[in-house]
Amino acid sequence: MLRVRNDRGLDLSAYKQPFIMRRLRSRFRALDICKLDEYCMVLRRNPAEYEKLIEALAINVTEFFRDPSLFELLSSKVIKELCRSKTKPGTKHLRFLCAGGASGEEAYSIAIALCETLGSQIDDYTISIHSVDIDDDCIIKTKAGKYTAERVRNVPIELLEKYFTQEEGDLYSVKPVLRKMVRTYHMDILTARIPKHFDVIFCRNLLIYFSKEAHSELFMKFHSAIAIDGFLILGRTETLIGATKGMFEVFDAKERVYRKVTMSIRSHAPAIV
Ligand SMILES: C[S@@+](CC[C@H](N)C(=O)[O-])C[C@H]1O[C@@H](n2cnc3c(N)ncnc32)[C@H](O)[C@@H]1O
Repeated sequence: MLRVRNDRGLDLSAYKQPFIMRRLRSRFRALDICKLDEYCMVLRRNPAEYEKLIEALAINVTEFFRDPSLFELLSSKVIKELCRSKTKPGTKHLRFLCAGGASGEEAYSIAIALCETLGSQIDDYTISIHSVDIDDDCIIKTKAGKYTAERVRNVPIELLEKYFTQEEGDLYSVKPVLRKMVRTYHMDILTARIPKHFDVIFCRNLLIYFSKEAHSELFMKFHSAIAIDGFLILGRTETLIGATKGMFEVFDAKERVYRKVTMSIRSHAPAIV
């Protein structure tokens, strides 16, 4: 673990032990080895194995409009709430972060929800949706913005026709109106300094791989990265734990949508420096 952290800055101690062992065993099988020290030797001799290890750790399962009722809530309440607080000149920025955004489906679904909700008012806003991931293959796929018919199966037909161009074969390419909102880059959210002033952080279906200690640290980082009145959105099976519960209030329990609590509205909120 120490070797991986020193060589690649990847802190495996934050991942759950059984998860790491399962993923390592899949590499052992592929390399026909059975011991950890043999694997360390492979890493030393062949640095390209690090990419394979990251690939094995990164379970990239995702889809457009994953948990459709969350996206309904995003359109019917969250985006509208945010816009209500941005009436003054110079405040019309909307910044979203998809932590562990995989191949971009989540970020482009948010972009579609914004277009549909804001309509022609969208031109009044500067919008950026940052889709970050530890897996460079995901960054390449998000940048390309091309998806097979199978991958766009959840996109309602009228939205598919409006926001995608069908290319040769069964490929659908996102239109520039979505592409210009989405930025994507490599980030290990466990070790990186997360930029600030995000209105919404999506961190869905990623915490399940991390230890409880890593959860607490991440929630503290998210709290300081989220703007006043901003939101944190977790996956369906994920929840806030321990002391971090006081940093956010529940906005919608079923959809795992939380709102940042700041000192000005709750005196008992923890101070984040
Ligand atoms: C199961 S996918 C979730 C994708 C999307 N958020 C969703 O809910 O559909 C988890 C993603 O987290 C990424 N990931 C795992 N560890 C990470 C880390 N430390 N920093 C950033 N991304 C990470 C994986 O590469 C993978 O693409």
